[in-house]
Amino acid sequence: MDNKPLLWVLGGGAFAFTAVVAYWIFAITLANHLKSDQVSPQKTAEFVHAILEANRNNYTDNVVVKLSRDGIEAHEHWRDERGVPLPAQFLLESGRLVAVKDLGFSFRLASLTPIYAWNGANSDLERVGLAAVQQDPSQPHYGIVRRGELRLFQAVYADRAVSQACVDCHNRHPNSPRRDFKLNDVMGGIIITFPIGS
Ligand code: HEC
Repeated sequence: MDNKPLLWVLGGGAFAFTAVVAYWIFAITLANHLKSDQVSPQKTAEFVHAILEANRNNYTDNVVVKLSRDGIEAHEHWRDERGVPLPAQFLLESGRLVAVKDLGFSFRLASLTPIYAWNGANSDLERVGLAAVQQDPSQPHYGIVRRGELRLFQAVYADRAVSQACVDCHNRHPNSPRRDFKLNDVMGGIIITFPIGS
């Protein structure tokens, strides 16, 4: 009996099977490779936080301190009077300028005991996040919220009283609901928000 046709069919089948499996393995490897090349939302937030922190320190150390030696102070009412913004206002102002770009990306300084209500928590996630970093400032708090069509990733980082100036100004501010801040206390948080895939 001639087994040739059967051998052809078996051979062709084996070849097709191998090709499909090989393609499958290739596709999975590529998908995993691409996945591992993506930057996680946690890492993205860390990058943004690093820039915000660097800019705030840079502004404080190299602009505010220097101007103050020349008699130009940073103070809250900088818009209407002589002087420049406080570092907190400098960050908040950049946040407002970014927000108008309509990217779904925003950042701000906030607190559960803010000087101004507009710096309070705007959602349960923000409330929980600010409380969490108050408890453990070494870890940022993460969460995801939905806003309309967008899925937004939020990261809350502790904002600590790194200098006595933070403590004195907040404790003495007529609007401040809290007056017992000490050096190194968590005074609030930096909240970073941006859209992630749905
Ligand atoms: C000279 C006064 C002054 C100093 C110094 C100061 N702040 Fe503030 N801070 C303010 C004012 C005023 C606001 C509110 C600004 C606004 O919303 O326009 C504010 C806002 C904040 C907020 C947002 C929540 C809130 O209370 O409204 C945080 C958090 C914060 N400051 C932390 C700090 C830290 C940390 C430092 C030190 C590195 C610091 N501040 C130094 C006056 C000060």
